[in-house]
Amino acid sequence: MNMKRILVSGGVGQIGTELSVELRKKYGADNVFITDIREDVPAIIKEGGHYNKLNVMNYDEVSNFVKKNEINTIYHLAAILSGKGEENPFLCWDVNMNGSMNVFKVAIENKVKQIFLPSSMAAWGLGIPSENVPQESIMRPTSMYGVTKVAGERLGEYFFYKYGLDTRGLRYPGIISSEALPGGGTTDYAVEIFYEAIKNKHYTSYINKGTPLPMMYMPDCIKATIDLMEADIKTLRYHGDYNVAAFSFAPEDIAAEIKKVIPEFTIDYKPDFRQQIAESWPTSIDDTAARQDWNWKPNFDITAMTVDMIDKLSKKLM
Ligand SMILES: NC(=O)c1ccc[n+]([C@@H]2O[C@H](COP(=O)([O-])OP(=O)(O)OC[C@H]3O[C@@H](n4cnc5c(N)ncnc54)[C@H](O)[C@@H]3O)[C@@H](O)[C@H]2O)c1
Repeated sequence: MNMKRILVSGGVGQIGTELSVELRKKYGADNVFITDIREDVPAIIKEGGHYNKLNVMNYDEVSNFVKKNEINTIYHLAAILSGKGEENPFLCWDVNMNGSMNVFKVAIENKVKQIFLPSSMAAWGLGIPSENVPQESIMRPTSMYGVTKVAGERLGEYFFYKYGLDTRGLRYPGIISSEALPGGGTTDYAVEIFYEAIKNKHYTSYINKGTPLPMMYMPDCIKATIDLMEADIKTLRYHGDYNVAAFSFAPEDIAAEIKKVIPEFTIDYKPDFRQQIAESWPTSIDDTAARQDWNWKPNFDITAMTVDMIDKLSKKLM
């Protein structure tokens, strides 16, 4: 295969930051073009290779960028997430749908080979089994974010069959990470709790106790993403909508894990509007298709993740 020339949109976000660093390692910093609209660009992104401002809402900007840099692979991560999306549903639609349409259109016009567009467990909603939600299930999301995620999955598959654009995507669970802060999703609490545990030994959770959600540690998220993009297309039964899972926990479960390492840690609960979003999501996910088709298997369980998060964040916050 020809050398990959990779564009990452939304590359300074929670997932983009760590994924971009890994893509540079794997494919060479010269071949990875990290972009975002943000001014606050961390040193690991700014100094390790290309970084450019690029607004996915601007078709001309995206088109010129893809042409100029001979992009043949796109990781399209620019999005408005679930929490922010409920505060501004019209903006969420605009960025997630019109932004994605610009990226798809430019990709098709420029014969880009592959696009990664993440979906989310938010794409489900009413009428699903709450446990082990299967690969193929009814999709009736109740948040604007979820609506855009289902539409993104369908668009990816549509463009695959219509134009042969190799679109791939994962229904990510909540992603936990220590490098970049999350950008306004419902599962952000599962990251904040670690910062507060280390700084203040206490956390007030906006998700209520007794609300388990599927989660994954960032190294597994990156592994899943790159492994899916590298998988032989002949083995793939699905395109933009593979279920992936690692573990599930409720706030009290992660609090108990943190307490094993920081015994003074305490938690209380003050649910806000995100509780309702969380309650519309599944408690666990069946990822058999991903395991069968491209050998997906997470490395981290909740205990290993907790120990690693506290270790990394303690050093970072020192
Ligand atoms: N983090 C999670 O737990 C999670 C879970 C499920 C799915 N996802 C999906 O993964 C992808 C990345 O999520 P994330 O957690 O890194 O989100 P994030 O909010 O941390 O990052 C998104 C980035 O997109 C950028 N952006 C917003 N509007 C833009 C525009 N018009 N042009 C260019 N960039 C723009 C933002 O500045 C931000 O840096 C999204 O598609 C999201 O829906 C994330």
